[in-house]
Amino acid sequence: MKKKSRRSRPSRRAKPARAAAPVVPAVPRTAAPAPPPARPGATNAFHNAIPNSPYPLRPVGPLPDDRPRPRANNHHKRETLALILAAGLGKRMQSRWSKLLHSVAGRPVVRHVVEATRGAGVARTVVVVGNQAEEVRRAVGDHDKRIAFAFQKEQLGTGHAVLSAERMLAGHDGDVLILNGDLPALRPETITAFVDYHREHAAPLSLLTTVLADPRGYGRVIRNYGGDVSRIIEDADATADERATQEVNCGIYCVDIRSLFRPLRQATRDNAQGEIYLTDLIEILRKEGRKVAAYRHGEAHEVLGVNDRRELADAGRALYRRKADALMRSGVTLMDPATTYIDMPVTIGRDSVIEPGVMILGDSHLGEDVRVGLGSRIADTTIGDGTEILAYCVLGSSKVGRGCKIGPFSHMRPDSVMDEEAHIGNFVEMKKTRLGRGSKANHLAYLGDAEIGRDANIGAGTITCNYDGVAKHRTVIEDEVFIGSDTQLVAPVRVRRGAFVGAGTTVTKDVPAHALAISRVRQENKDGWARKHGPLAKRDGHNNK
Ligand code: UD1
Ligand code: MG
Repeated sequence: MKKKSRRSRPSRRAKPARAAAPVVPAVPRTAAPAPPPARPGATNAFHNAIPNSPYPLRPVGPLPDDRPRPRANNHHKRETLALILAAGLGKRMQSRWSKLLHSVAGRPVVRHVVEATRGAGVARTVVVVGNQAEEVRRAVGDHDKRIAFAFQKEQLGTGHAVLSAERMLAGHDGDVLILNGDLPALRPETITAFVDYHREHAAPLSLLTTVLADPRGYGRVIRNYGGDVSRIIEDADATADERATQEVNCGIYCVDIRSLFRPLRQATRDNAQGEIYLTDLIEILRKEGRKVAAYRHGEAHEVLGVNDRRELADAGRALYRRKADALMRSGVTLMDPATTYIDMPVTIGRDSVIEPGVMILGDSHLGEDVRVGLGSRIADTTIGDGTEILAYCVLGSSKVGRGCKIGPFSHMRPDSVMDEEAHIGNFVEMKKTRLGRGSKANHLAYLGDAEIGRDANIGAGTITCNYDGVAKHRTVIEDEVFIGSDTQLVAPVRVRRGAFVGAGTTVTKDVPAHALAISRVRQENKDGWARKHGPLAKRDGHNNK
């Protein structure tokens, strides 16, 4: 893997002298091809000039002699297969774990790339694994029949990773969409636009590029004076002049399989990192006189690889913003999208309102008209229509029915269930507990390993004593039971239907249906005691009469 460190590189020197560069006549606009049709959300900066570039540029696209060839009848029928490179470790993450396993907006980095290919309708995907192969395989989701895995035994570079998949790709006749595995923000629409671009431009290889104000660390796209891509030079191998180039390679390529493996085998490890670079394929094809088309993408944040934690956070921000936009478009109110973190897999119904500072994570699904209060955190939880969650609640791996009220300051720990119209209030903690329909625990309670029926009332300060120091035990509270305040239920114990437990009771035995259980010491009143012995008596030196 890489030895380089993107941010620690000394800042590049001033722009190289341009004086020596021959003046290249601008290509007349009419010769430039029309940009591909706009797709929703896919901007492409086809006609962007690269600011400060020492390399003269013209609109990206095929050369005049590289016009789209007439489409063969079956041109569009040729299958595109995706090849995702996910065998690296990612040293710049400074992690025990492959960077592709790190989670961002609710999915491992590599999973986002797989989902993007799926969203773009790519029929088959091959993922190259190597480092922590089993974990990466699981992160990808190894049960999907459309996904296959290739194994790269030693991590000798991106070119080597592609070569490791040669056998898996045998028999494929069409284009191979090669994607670095570290592109979590890549959108399906961009993949589709890029694949269409490739099909229209007839070059054996197309690559996706973008322009960065600070291109350090990335492979630079070197163009000849005509503006065609001639090669990609890695940051570690680049001269100061080359480093000044701001157009970078994004690690997204579409290659006709016939122009992939044979030329790539010519790549050597003769470079600063001693690796077989996939990017060498461009120069190899160009030297064979083949064309390379470049699709310049305008939204850099979407196509930048995540190599370190800062870039992981950047990708997270982009994904959360995208999710927020999609939810708002679908009819969900986010009071402050900038402080709202909703993972990609989450779904939320219409007219729900999310207050500021909320996180809704993982496999969470909220119905319609749900309100989530300020500062709440909901993970892997399903919430029914019309439920209201007040401020500062924490809910994990639980299920909440319709029309429930929760909070403020409630905590639902894993495997808790609230049936419809149940309420829990401030400082109520549930764990592995079911609270039946219409039941209430409005203040200060711990309900663990409990089964609570319908229309029960759980008084303030109720505690299920579920743990005896060795094992956990269950408490059962049947329908319409009233538990008075400050009750302890020493499990295992059952309070049967309609029973009433007096405040302050320690319930150690089952309570029969409709009975009253009360275990307090009987109250005694001693007349005049306070006047004689109470603090006032002492302070005032009363004569105790
Ligand atoms: C690569 C490109 C660079 C481009 C950048 C875009 C090369 C040589 N360089 O650099 O031009 O600007 O991406 O983000 O391709 N991988 C393997 N096996 C390996 C090495 C890497 O599977 O032996 C995988 C990694 O897991 C990762 C991807 O390939 O998903 C890219 O590797 P990375 O180390 O991130 O390449 P960059 O240095 O970012
Ligand atoms: Mg990278």
